[in-house]
Amino acid sequence: MNSIDNIKSVGVIGAGTMGQGIAQIAAMVGYKTILFDIENSALDKALQSIEKNLEKGIEKGKVTNEQKTTTLQNISTVVELNEVKADFVIEAIIEKLEVKQKVFSKLESINSENTILATNTSSIPITQIGAGLKHPERFIGMHFFNPAHIMKLVEVISGAATDDKVALLTKEFAGKLGKVAVMAKDSPGFIVNRVARHFYVEGLKVLEEGVADVETIDKLIQSSGFKMGPFQLMDLIGVDTNFSVTTSMYNSFYQDAKFRPSRIQQQKVDAGHHGRKSGKGFYNYE
Ligand code: NAI
Repeated sequence: MNSIDNIKSVGVIGAGTMGQGIAQIAAMVGYKTILFDIENSALDKALQSIEKNLEKGIEKGKVTNEQKTTTLQNISTVVELNEVKADFVIEAIIEKLEVKQKVFSKLESINSENTILATNTSSIPITQIGAGLKHPERFIGMHFFNPAHIMKLVEVISGAATDDKVALLTKEFAGKLGKVAVMAKDSPGFIVNRVARHFYVEGLKVLEEGVADVETIDKLIQSSGFKMGPFQLMDLIGVDTNFSVTTSMYNSFYQDAKFRPSRIQQQKVDAGHHGRKSGKGFYNYE
């Protein structure tokens, strides 16, 4: 088993909303970081937004020019999963069990037995994703929050087969990335997403019932002390990702009505209105 000092390189699978932030922090700390995506355009977009974040950091006096240069130098981008060989790999692709399982069995076949494989899933039980692996003991959940380069919290979730030493090492690794790790039990949505689900689901119900419009709901929730209303937050998270998480939790909790996905949200997904990342969601960003 690896010790923290043996972790020299990090693989990040998926260069979308979460993958880009995770790659940024790993590279900033000094890890050689391999960022993978199936889409070249996603990799280009990710590098642009990492550069933008670093420039913002320079403006605020939190990042030096030298740090920006070394961070960008530490990141290499690849479109072949075969090329993701690293000591610690974090997956952040779409929230679909079968797709994640396929990616992990590939990652397992090309990486050393000492490599820790982590998923950033928001809702799918870790035991389920790790079930097809030959070595599920080195597989774990490492759930970051959006925006990943800013938010401090990380939920670390052991599956039924995860080795305790892997859990401790992941916690230590999260600390190296400047995060505060909280150990969570393996259950659908873990802690934060399970509690927060109702924020979105109920907001959508209020909208569907015509009680109030998007702007009014968000404004009222904000004025009651929340940083963002549910629709602003869904646009930040990704309306598609948020919908997949709700759907996954609804199914995991045996179609419990309190997690039922919303038709309005389904329509947004179908129309490609995925929030800030697509230029349009509940609000227009174009
Ligand atoms: P996203 O839709 O912004 O990005 C996903 C990326 O994965 C895309 O660029 C896509 O091209 C890529 N990808 C790479 N390999 C893929 C494959 N085999 N199949 C499909 N896509 C592939 O997604 P986002 O929001 O970054 O979510 C990623 C994961 O992180 C999900 O599991 C989600 O639940 C989780 N998460 C999301 C948060 C959020 O606020 N968006 C917060 C915490 C966790």
